[in-house]
Amino acid sequence: VTAQQPLRGDVAVLVPAAGIGSRLGPGTPKALREIAGAPLLVHAVRRLCRAEGVACVVIAAPAGRAEEVRALVEPEAPSGVTLLVVDGGPTRGESVYAALSAAPAKYPVVLVHDAARAFAPPDLVERVAAAVRSGHDAVIPVLAVVDTVKEVDADGRVVRTLDRTALRAVQTPQGFRREVLLAAHRAAGVANGVTDDAGLVEHLGVAVFCVPGAEAALKITRPSDVALARALAQVHLDADGGRTLSS
Ligand code: CTP
Ligand code: MG
Repeated sequence: VTAQQPLRGDVAVLVPAAGIGSRLGPGTPKALREIAGAPLLVHAVRRLCRAEGVACVVIAAPAGRAEEVRALVEPEAPSGVTLLVVDGGPTRGESVYAALSAAPAKYPVVLVHDAARAFAPPDLVERVAAAVRSGHDAVIPVLAVVDTVKEVDADGRVVRTLDRTALRAVQTPQGFRREVLLAAHRAAGVANGVTDDAGLVEHLGVAVFCVPGAEAALKITRPSDVALARALAQVHLDADGGRTLSS
């Protein structure tokens, strides 16, 4: 616990962390697997809590593991941050909705952040929250696409080559005015196939604003991502001048 008490603000972050991590291979649910000395979820919560606008973190835990998750993350939250843990659902969308339903209504800015993007830097969190505060209903962090992307049919034939300069890879945290995110989830219902929350908002016809993403916010998905994440974790701890929370 640091002596300096950071300013606390208007942001609640929902953290879907209930996935099993099938693409990473068999084992513990992905958010609870360790990289660089701590479970992914702990790395994620540490960085979220270092963003000064964040006043509340709501975690959607893997089935049956809520108490274990609470014990893991509680030591990581500064005293000004409210920490809540709920049971996640069978899909990411249901996990986000469970967390959203538990988030106190007093936070006007709601971010949704994948536990699997455990090394997203605090300044990215700030950047997304600031864009919502400045008047955007929905905000996503994006990166340029490095590969050429083609549309391909079921027989493996190329239909068309997309214009790469107009494409962006989308990360989290995604930020929303609370009412907008609630309306989007309620309109979509449980059985929607949308993989990100901004996608639900787009269905409402609400404009979504892009801000620059961060390489360190990669989604740890496949085994090779683990090595990369380990390296990026180190870079960012150093870039923060060693201002790490004691473990
Ligand atoms: N997630 C969740 N509830 C689910 C499924 C996913 O909260 N039912 C969360 C994951 O824990 C993760 C985020 O959504 O933090 C992004 O999902 P993904 O990277 O696909 O994680 P997994 O679903 O665990 O991985 P996989 O698809 O490889 O099984
Ligand atoms: Mg998944």
